[in-house]
Amino acid sequence: MELTKSQKMEFYREGFLKIEGAVPRVMVAAARQAINAEIGKGTRHAFADIRAMPVITDLFNETPVFALLESALGKGNLQCQSNGAVKLNYPAGVGTPQRDPQLATAGPPLRTGGHLDGIAKARDFLRGTAEESGYSRDFTAFAVVYLDDVPASYCGNFTVWPKSHHVMEDVFREKGHEILLNYMPDVSVPEGPVQLTGEPGDLILAHHQVIHTAAINACPDIRYAVIFRARHVDIGKNGMDVFTDIWREWDGIRAEIA
Ligand SMILES: [Fe+2]
Repeated sequence: MELTKSQKMEFYREGFLKIEGAVPRVMVAAARQAINAEIGKGTRHAFADIRAMPVITDLFNETPVFALLESALGKGNLQCQSNGAVKLNYPAGVGTPQRDPQLATAGPPLRTGGHLDGIAKARDFLRGTAEESGYSRDFTAFAVVYLDDVPASYCGNFTVWPKSHHVMEDVFREKGHEILLNYMPDVSVPEGPVQLTGEPGDLILAHHQVIHTAAINACPDIRYAVIFRARHVDIGKNGMDVFTDIWREWDGIRAEIA
């Protein structure tokens, strides 16, 4: 199974793509059962005992997720995943309003409350040492698998700012990616955030350089998702050069836009 040309073009333009039903429901159910079993033992965060087990990693390695993403990176260019991040977004208290200051957009120009991964948190920076305020570029793409219904906005949605990967590439070309030493720069983006809704088994692919966050969960249910940070086989060699050359690891996308 491969991404279609129009899906690849959409990914290029927007920086993300939703693919409905990419993971079979039976595997979604098994993963959710494994997570709930851990919750029953008192685990609420990290899920270290199951994150590297097949019930989680198979969601990426043994479903169409792998082939879909590989078709964007190029045959043989995608690493298998040795673990997935089990991410539960617990509801806020009853009566919490369905708004989120970090998603507020005053504009134009629009500013974001989102971030890129791999940047030391501001509190680390303020507190501390040079090592604590570092940054890295250690994955190629998000592959987010929803394990339950995310029916509306403000339900803990994976949230992206469309086209922000292009914006960040321009910023890094102009100022250097070293600006990340000062944490996430304040940038202007062309569009407000998209809170992605979905059903169990839906997949969201996103470029690593898309500004993103998780919306608050002002809904009744826990949001269950597994987030894979997928890597190109040459990620070590490419390193931080990709901050200013964001399609280097995407042969399948480059072939469509050439
Ligand atoms: Fe993040």
